[in-house]
This record gives sequence, C-alpha cells and structure tokens, in this order.
Amino acid sequence: MQVDAVILVGGLGTRLRPLTLSAPKPMLPTAGVPFLAHLLSRIRASGIEHVLLATSYQAAIFTDYFGDGRRFGLEIEYLHEDTPMGTGGAIRNAAEHLRFDTTLVFNGDSLSGVDLRALLDYHAESAADVTVSLATVSDPAAYGCVVTDHRGRVTAFLEKSPNPPGNQINAGLYALRRPVLAAIPAGRPVSLEREVLPQLIGSGTPVFGYAGDSYWRDIGQPSDFVAASADLVRGIAPSAALPGPPGEAMILGGAAVDDLAKIGGGTTVGAAAVIESGAIVDGCVLFEGARISAGAIVRRSVLGFGARVGRGAHLEDAVLGDRSSVGVGVELLAGARVWPDVVLADHSVRFSSDT
Ligand code: GTP
Repeated sequence: MQVDAVILVGGLGTRLRPLTLSAPKPMLPTAGVPFLAHLLSRIRASGIEHVLLATSYQAAIFTDYFGDGRRFGLEIEYLHEDTPMGTGGAIRNAAEHLRFDTTLVFNGDSLSGVDLRALLDYHAESAADVTVSLATVSDPAAYGCVVTDHRGRVTAFLEKSPNPPGNQINAGLYALRRPVLAAIPAGRPVSLEREVLPQLIGSGTPVFGYAGDSYWRDIGQPSDFVAASADLVRGIAPSAALPGPPGEAMILGGAAVDDLAKIGGGTTVGAAAVIESGAIVDGCVLFEGARISAGAIVRRSVLGFGARVGRGAHLEDAVLGDRSSVGVGVELLAGARVWPDVVLADHSVRFSSDT
C-alpha cells in the first residue's frame, strides 16, 4: 500500500525550554543529528517516500537542514501555519497535498519502534477510518489514555486525564483515510486529540488502536529527551540515522574528551565540545561547543550550545541554555533549568547543605 506521511512539527515545545528558544523541539540534536532525522530514517526504511512537514514555529530551521529531502532518500514538502493551527488543523492543511488514500500522521516528537507496515496492514484489515498507534506507560496521566474493546476498537479517548482508566496511551502516530482527514474543519485551530478523535468515536466512526509491542518514548520533557537520546546512542531505540556505531557514548568530530574523564550511559558529546580530566558524565547530551571542566559530575543533563560547567560542579537532571555558564562548585539538581547566557557565579547555588 502506498501512503503519504505527514509529520507535525509546528509546536512551540514549551516544556523543553530553554532548549527550544533557539530551535524547534524536533530539530534539537539527539544522538548526533536532529531528532527528526531519526524519525525520517524509519519512514524511509518502511518504503514511504512522500513526506509533508507541517511547520509553524521557526520553520526555516527545518527547510535549511532537510531541503527537498533528496539527501535523505525522500521527497519532502513543507506546509506552513502563520499561527499554529493545532494538531488537527495542521493535518487538515495537508489534505490538498496528499497523493494516496491513506496517510500516516506522526507527532514530530515521538520515538517509536513500531513496524509501520504492520500498522498499515492492521488498519486495512480492520477497515478502520483511523488507527491510533498505542503504547503502554506507567504514568498515563501525562498522555492521552486510549480505551479499546476486545476487538481493538477505541471506545474512549481521554487526553491528559487525572484518573486514566488504564495505562494504554496514544503514541502520537495515526493512519487516517483521506475522507476523515478532509472532514476536519478548515480555517481555525483544531486539536486532533481533544476534538477530532473524541467526536469520531462518539459518532460511531471505526477508530481502532494498534498495540504493536515496541519501543516508545516521547521527548516532550527534558528527562524524556535525555533518556531518548541515550537510548538511541546505546542502540536501544531503533534508528537508521545514527552517525556512528551504538555504544556507551557518542563523540562527534572535533570533540575533545580527556583520557581521565569517565563518560557513559549513552552520552553524546557534540562537535567541538570539551570534557576535562576527572569529570564524570553519565547519560547526558552536550550540544556543539559545550564544555565540562575538571572534576565536575554531570548526570542525565542537557548542555545547550556553548554551555559551560565549572570545576567540581555537580549537575543531575539539569538543563543549561545556550552559552550559559555554571560556576565552580555549583550544585544543580532535580530539573533545574538555566536560561541562555546566564552566568551562575562560582559556589553561588547549592541544593544540599555545604557540609
Ligand atoms: P509543548 O509546548 O511542550 O506542549 O510542546 P508542543 O508545542 O510540541 O506540543 P505537543 O507536544 O503536544 O505536540 C505534539 C506534536 O505536534 C509535536 O511534534 C508538535 O511540534 C506538533 N504540534 C503541536 N501543535 C501544533 C500546531 O499547531 N501545528 C503543527 N503543525 N504542529 C503542531
């Protein structure tokens, strides 16, 4: 079956600020390449060639990197929303650009190992108008909970509900028949998750869930972004776009890691980044030009472009904005975020007492 792919990449990515102040979420460097490159590699591997990127926020960053897609074995077309039209509105905008009767729609911030061809076969066999790819998570309240009956038909779709009835969630990947897509209201913002899907289910349209047993994670929160990158580096998450062999760390060209530094846990060291002697760096993402000084301990943290960590500093689950600087001995834990260009003076912030 020939299908088009639509990828939703127009969101603001507020939960990943300050990293998303300089680049949209799907363009953040993840295991050495923009996150979207991993998704595109899986689309290409499944034999799909025509891709529509539904952009809005910082759209030029996508076109500059991916161009017409030929370099990636794809034909990429760009759609642009001056103001974000929501996930449903973005899909509606694609209607006139489709070539085939079935469309695969991807959230541009989900990393999935689902077999796309198996999902499409299931979609055809169940005569569904919409098939939602499902994942199972331990904390369903943060996602869209999807309830299915014994045949796999979706009976309820509860977006970010405080008391979800199960832990089966919307994995952010859908197969849609063309008439369903064309029936989404045009010209105003529409949410696929909050408006279109609940209405379709309520009106008896066949919406099915596909529970392929595969890797899944979205990168909406810093902790998930770091974990997804580490999974890619270690080969736990599937991708054909990894710039090197899988392993405990990925060190990009021009980076300098001292022999007496300890790096692992799926860390990516970006181009021209530096890690000095005695530093311990575990499960981190260092963007281009970042620097970790001697004796610092940095775990599960993201260092934006040119960000610096001073000697003996201790970071866990922290996010450093581009060009920010963390002074000697500073301690940042538990989701701390430092905005771009901010300088934290030596010994200026601690979480624990200084005993
Ligand atoms: P947060 O602001 O942190 O919630 O992130 P987000 O703006 O990316 O929203 P969310 O994670 O819910 O979006 C899921 C996917 O849909 C992401 O890949 C977004 O880029 C995309 N998306 C969200 N809203 C829009 C929109 O209005 N237009 C388009 N084209 N894409 C969107």
